[in-house]
Amino acid sequence: MRPKKRLIWTKKTMGTDYYPEQWDSALWESDLTRMRAAGISVIRIAEFAWNKLEPEDGVFTYGFFDRFLDLCAEKGMKVIFGTPTATPPAWLSEKYPEILNCDIDGNPYRHGSRRHYTYNSPVYQKYAARIVEREAVHYGKHPAICGWQIDNELNCETTDFYSEADNAAFRVFLQEKYGSLEELNRAWGTAFWNETYTDWSEVHVIRKTVSGGVNPHQHLDYLRFVSESCIRFAKMQADIIRRYKKPGDFVTTNGMFGHLDNCRLQDEVLDVYTYDSYPNFAQSIGRAEGGNAAGAGGEESLGDRDWSRNLSVVRSVCPHFGIMEQQAGPGGWTTKMEQASPRPGQLTLWAMQSVAHGADYVGFFRWRTACAGTEIYWHGILDWDNRDNRRLAEVKEFYKKLRALDETAGADCRGFFGVLQDVDNQFDAEVDCWHGRVEAASRQGIFAAAQKAHVPGNVVSLSDETDLSELASYPVLFYPHAVILDEKRAAVLRSYVEQGGTLVIGCRTGYKDLQGHCVMQPQPGLLSRLTGTTVKDFSFACPGEDPIIALAEDGRVIPMPLFNDVLEPGEGTRVLAAYANGYFQGEAALTEHRVGAGRVLHLGSTFCRENTAWLLCCLHLEEPLQDMVLAPDEVELALQEKEGKKYLFVLNYGREKTTITLIHPAVLLYTGRTVQGDRILPPFGTAVYRLLEERERD
Ligand code: GAL
Repeated sequence: MRPKKRLIWTKKTMGTDYYPEQWDSALWESDLTRMRAAGISVIRIAEFAWNKLEPEDGVFTYGFFDRFLDLCAEKGMKVIFGTPTATPPAWLSEKYPEILNCDIDGNPYRHGSRRHYTYNSPVYQKYAARIVEREAVHYGKHPAICGWQIDNELNCETTDFYSEADNAAFRVFLQEKYGSLEELNRAWGTAFWNETYTDWSEVHVIRKTVSGGVNPHQHLDYLRFVSESCIRFAKMQADIIRRYKKPGDFVTTNGMFGHLDNCRLQDEVLDVYTYDSYPNFAQSIGRAEGGNAAGAGGEESLGDRDWSRNLSVVRSVCPHFGIMEQQAGPGGWTTKMEQASPRPGQLTLWAMQSVAHGADYVGFFRWRTACAGTEIYWHGILDWDNRDNRRLAEVKEFYKKLRALDETAGADCRGFFGVLQDVDNQFDAEVDCWHGRVEAASRQGIFAAAQKAHVPGNVVSLSDETDLSELASYPVLFYPHAVILDEKRAAVLRSYVEQGGTLVIGCRTGYKDLQGHCVMQPQPGLLSRLTGTTVKDFSFACPGEDPIIALAEDGRVIPMPLFNDVLEPGEGTRVLAAYANGYFQGEAALTEHRVGAGRVLHLGSTFCRENTAWLLCCLHLEEPLQDMVLAPDEVELALQEKEGKKYLFVLNYGREKTTITLIHPAVLLYTGRTVQGDRILPPFGTAVYRLLEERERD
């Protein structure tokens, strides 16, 4: 069972990201005054400012941030102080090149960008610990500080580490894990292609190989190693900060990037998780984050609405989170990315999207667009000219709305179903393209279908520690492609079903163990008794053949895209749909097996929008809010609950105005007025209602 953490923001709070070191100090006071006037009460600072604190090796200067923090205290501005380890200073990188991360060819990444260090360099660890300790000792008790951000976007820019320090640390990681080379050879299946290791010095992080044929078991361990290295580095910093910070000040980090077990990071290191929300990526040039997140679009893309999928993953890491960086303008670097300016209303929509998914703190990135550097096109609230503009006006309007939502701070997001996710399968999907392809398709298919049917869902993280209480509140759980399974997870899934849950699995389940070896038993492996099925044949969809379909009992034609498992139902297993074409025509495509008070549905393909929409209907999950609200396609609905009260979030992603219908009277929190019936939402419009209970309705 995962630990519960204290609630950090008991009021909805708005902030921004500020870089005092990038501006003439003559601007500080007016900047802080204008921020306060806009409703900004928190700023995040200093995460790239190592040189302001240690301009030379061992020479520490505190005056710069002393002056700035004192001014913040005077202006009533709270500060999240960043540790500067994302950007090692030039003097350090030159003096100790062994701190630098390398590309796969072993060439070091040079000074001039950021995140060019490796977590595993003992020299870097020493310097990082020292600067963090100096900061924490000096500023830890400053009254303006309310929290600490470790580093910046751990595993951003690159998720791969190939330096000599990483090779050395990888060997130690493997020695601790396997104890002997014999065990390592077994775990990595090195009998294949004569890969057997005879001395630890022969073992490396993944390297360039002919045709890119990297050993998948080595690769899986390498991703676990990267995650472990990152978590240890963050923990080293958090432990230091906790020794000196004021009680009540929180420790966080921002982002959500790949090759990282974010739940472990949250549970073992952080008080609260913060995310950087840039929905413009989902409607322009994509950037994959977190190994499982939206961004690249694809056929089933819903544009900026796809970002809700990322936010659901963030919520699974930390239910009441903050947004450290909320998109405040068009994005772009001088070297990549060209994003449109958010349309009037769209900034508010994106910020409300974060709030609807559980954010209690929203900090806009950044106060003013940088005048120098790679990010001169990553626009903040203000432009370079520093004049009031439409984005500042919108931030002020957003603040009024946010304050009206104070009573919702710490409310729980209701999920009418859950989608299970675990880090082993997430990593395996990165290593194994057969897995990655079905996983990506189904995650988006389920998300898009649920969005269109207005079914709010939660992502639920599964590990060997998960207990039934974390699953039992969901009537339905999808576990699209649990390629990797182990006994503990299979057991908790069985308990979930026995106590009355409905588990829905897709093709490609249960054919690997934790090491990524294929198991010599019929699929879906450890779940076979639970599903009441085995897989007797399987194939990717064959180019040149008609798309595979199945025919359901009710005569409905169901797409069975991308991959097909041909199911063999055991005794007592019902066939709900059979393949209607392909060489396996007539064979089982979807089955139902009742176990205890629950059941398992086994779909022999990936989940796309169309087949999932049909499944949601069969499971009586579609439009679960229809006795409260009717909403068109382009509108996302979210429901939050707190102390017996229900809050309905309505987000119009459409570029046209649209109408929703409130079935019963509800309080529009933005105005405090009770309203009912047809309500017009402007383009990109949002609304948040407190639903009235029957006795409150007249
Ligand atoms: C984030 C990062 C910021 C800034 C922003 C725009 O990923 O934390 O420092 O770079 O993106 O690119």
